[in-house]
Amino acid sequence: MSVVIVVGAQWGDEGKGKVVDLFTERADVVVRYGGGANAGHTLVIDGKKLVTHLVPSGVCHPGKSCVLGDGMVIDPLTLLEELAQCQARGLLAHDELLIGLGAHVILPYHKLVDGLREDRGAKQGRAIGTTRRGIGPAYEMKAARRGVRVRDLLRPERLADKIHQNLDDLGPVIEHLGGTRPTEREVQTWIAEAVAAGERLRPYTGDAGRHVANAIARGQHVLFEGAQGCLLDLDHGTYPYVTSSSTIAAGACQSAGIGPTQIDAVVGITKAYATRVGEGPFPSELHGEAGDRLRKAGGEFGATTGRPRRCGWLDLPALRMGVRLSGMQSLALTKLDVLAGMPDVQVCVAYKLDGRELDEPPTDPDDLMRAEPVYTRLPGWGTLPSDAHDITDLPASARAYVETIERMAGVPFCLVSVGPDRSETIRLHDPFA
Ligand code: GDP
Ligand code: IMO
Ligand code: MG
Repeated sequence: MSVVIVVGAQWGDEGKGKVVDLFTERADVVVRYGGGANAGHTLVIDGKKLVTHLVPSGVCHPGKSCVLGDGMVIDPLTLLEELAQCQARGLLAHDELLIGLGAHVILPYHKLVDGLREDRGAKQGRAIGTTRRGIGPAYEMKAARRGVRVRDLLRPERLADKIHQNLDDLGPVIEHLGGTRPTEREVQTWIAEAVAAGERLRPYTGDAGRHVANAIARGQHVLFEGAQGCLLDLDHGTYPYVTSSSTIAAGACQSAGIGPTQIDAVVGITKAYATRVGEGPFPSELHGEAGDRLRKAGGEFGATTGRPRRCGWLDLPALRMGVRLSGMQSLALTKLDVLAGMPDVQVCVAYKLDGRELDEPPTDPDDLMRAEPVYTRLPGWGTLPSDAHDITDLPASARAYVETIERMAGVPFCLVSVGPDRSETIRLHDPFA
């Protein structure tokens, strides 16, 4: 196996960052393939924490090539901040980062429109609960063939022209949404900032597609890192409560410009329970004290926005859908330790809707809102040993939980994580083997 995709199985924040960091040991190239600074990954290595939004989570392994794929939407100022943060730690030397010239760029007006739409949506009870990082508006401009790309940052005249064109389109929208159309002075400031950012990023830019294809041709190990999760996929997720990119495994091929025949393995990441940030259906959500308990035990607050994540029991219909959408051949289970200390643990094994039992979410969002979870109850377990390195190091009831999920999801686990640190991991199977 030399080309592996890692993808979130549900609504994001499954612990992809930790798992990608672990798998990078065996990779030569790590490619982030979708989304932008809406993502937030927390890496904990020997007790030291690093939070990233744009750079691949393989960043903590010097000597590896970290690529931002053409399918991303990149906020250049956030990337520069992140780059500075990494370089202050001696990470991401010049030849270890490659920014795809075809990736799209997020500019202040994308974030402005995202925020105004959310404010208006909130008043009308129709908010998506986005991260307000400009993701939707940037992908909209891309689809409308008016987007600004990384390559434009390196050509000031073309950049200025495109930004003016964008604001010609968006000015009336901004006003309609209750905002103030940016003045020419503001626009000039944005252009100057973008040009300056482009100059600083220029040494890191290049043909990401070729770079990845060459690595694959040489037989190197390439790891694709998905952001968000399968159920936030624009085409197949819980639309309209989704992000604006292709988060499923297929997105890796699109972003890098490689064919699906090049992919050897797909690994899904699932938490031992479920979380969701923002609005949208979440049948196994726990409200009140039970939800608060999980949120506190799991530290479930967004790494990007700080918002409390909605928490609930593991949702097997949603997990099965993720497995199907991405063709996952194995799963990594994270945060098993968070469920420790409960007398029993529940798992949503199906939904009930109009007298029928469903093993996957219904496709209509209103139906999913009405779907009632069907639970199975399993015995709980006490504190897990953080130095567990073999599945037999876990208490019998924790093992039974893992085996039940494995059986009901129909996919074997390749890894079980029992704490945030790189070391707190039981490795069962190497996806590059
Ligand atoms: P990502 O967006 O999928 O990379 O996930 P996030 O980083 O947003 O959220 C996962 C959080 O859980 C991070 O704070 C991780 O440090 C933490 N984490 C990952 N695996 C484990 C685990 O097995 N146990 C615990 N307690 N925390 C974990
Ligand atoms: P990582 O990579 C969890 C959610 C937002 C919102 C919806 C649309 O850390 O798992 P957007 O800003 O993308 O237009 O918001 O998607 N969302 C995430 N939720 N983890 C993420 O990324 C997310 N990225 C976007 O909360 O509901
Ligand atoms: Mg996250």
